Amino acid sequence: MKNFTYRTLTELRRGVEKLGARHVRLESDVVKVQEALGRPVQVGTVRTGNSMAIHPMEGCDGRLDGAPDELTYRRYERFGRGGAKLIWFEATAVVQEGRANTRQLWITRENVGDFARIHDLILRTHREEYGRDDDVLIPIQLTHSGRYSVPKRIIAYNNPLIARKFNMPDDYPAITDDELDRLPDAFLEGAKLAYAAGFRALDLKVTHGYLLSELLGAKTRPGRYGGSLENRTRVIKEIFDRWKAEFGSRVTYCSRMSVFDGVPYVTDPETKRGVPLPFGTPYPHGYGVSPENPLEDDLSEPKQVIAMMKEWGLQLLNVSLGCPYYNPHIGRPFEKPDEGNYEPPEHPLFGVDRHFRIAGELQNTFPDLPMVGTGYSWLQRFSINAGAANIADGNIRFFGLGRNVLSYPDYARDVMRHGELEELRVCKTLTYCTFLMRQKDHPLGQFPSGCPPFDKLVYGPIMKEARETYRKASKKE
Ligand SMILES: Cc1cc2nc3c(=O)[nH]c(=O)nc-3n(C[C@H](O)[C@H](O)[C@H](O)COP(=O)(O)O)c2cc1C
Ligand code: SF4
Repeated sequence: MKNFTYRTLTELRRGVEKLGARHVRLESDVVKVQEALGRPVQVGTVRTGNSMAIHPMEGCDGRLDGAPDELTYRRYERFGRGGAKLIWFEATAVVQEGRANTRQLWITRENVGDFARIHDLILRTHREEYGRDDDVLIPIQLTHSGRYSVPKRIIAYNNPLIARKFNMPDDYPAITDDELDRLPDAFLEGAKLAYAAGFRALDLKVTHGYLLSELLGAKTRPGRYGGSLENRTRVIKEIFDRWKAEFGSRVTYCSRMSVFDGVPYVTDPETKRGVPLPFGTPYPHGYGVSPENPLEDDLSEPKQVIAMMKEWGLQLLNVSLGCPYYNPHIGRPFEKPDEGNYEPPEHPLFGVDRHFRIAGELQNTFPDLPMVGTGYSWLQRFSINAGAANIADGNIRFFGLGRNVLSYPDYARDVMRHGELEELRVCKTLTYCTFLMRQKDHPLGQFPSGCPPFDKLVYGPIMKEARETYRKASKKE
């Protein structure tokens, strides 16, 4: 079903009113859009040249040894030239067993030089276009993929609903306390390598159901890393402590965090829409969820965690929601699901509204901690009008785009030049990029991901091949 039917800002405004998505507000004045999105933001010691961000976007196109490869360099060259001043470098594993796919970036002693080259490429291309690079911030997202690691899942705790979604036994063993004790060593080593490669901003990835994000919801986990909020944040604190002891004020400390887990959804066989797996209440799992109704958020714990992280050194927070593997409509409101996945269970505008409401509430609670907003791509051409309104109203400091940067990496340049985006280049949230991410039937164990409809020359043939192997495999089943 087509939900995005708006040809003009006025039509979108009417749709917003009709649905009552009251946190979605739109700035229509081009000059005001440019002013809000052109605002510098002070993050630690860096003053970014504007308030436009590129979210971390994995291309699943690294080499088997974890180094960036040809398509990775191509993506970051485009991002460097694109004009956004906050370029969030994608998920990069700190240990091999924490990689989400065989081509996920993984920083090691052997390939640190390749990371230095790609970091340099971003700055160089940015300098070539805009004459300076001292106002660009490039946090590297350091990660352990936890439950979504390959070939072996490494889970933080047993959640029977998530286990059911992925056909896992309820008694699948969780990562041990001893293993978690050693995790900060790996994050410190990864950070040292990133620093050696030139990165001066570190992102601790606590989002989308990966290990540290899942750990925040491990209320039923026994031992030192489960139960109380102090226990569930113990690894995060330890990593920040180690980072600060090593780097002091030489780096900017960042984190991307899912502040609302929600529950797993599956496809309703009749309607093809997503439906939540049945849950009991009080729901004993998850982070940022209301125990009485886990379909709704409860931000009391995220607020406590953000306050703690600020004490530990946090200087920039990228706010995200949900888990792309079990409730993708929450994190990435979409028009069309990836093949085999569910149709959205709600109008995507409600998903956008949820993002704006939650990020706004957090930004207003912590006005001195700059935050980056998520969930704008579904608004297509009008995403910048919403971003500008949120910034002008103090509901966020940075406007971030995810999927749209795959189709339109230089969106920020067009905002600065024209105050508008081109209809023929904006992402239509058709989700082929996610489809590609999920395809493993490739000689390297993973198809690269990008935007087949709008970056056709490169990703058109890749999509064709991925579809053919997917169809063949579906027929065999
Ligand atoms: C292909 C693809 C790769 C992504 N890679 C990452 C990643 O490396 N790290 C991360 O935190 N989020 C990642 N995301 C999530 C996006 O950063 C973003 O949160 C999401 O797409 C919603 O924003 P949007 O509506 O602007 O697309 C990825 C999403 C897609 C579709
Ligand atoms: S494939 Fe392209 S158009 Fe589709 S969601 Fe991804 S970036 Fe957007």
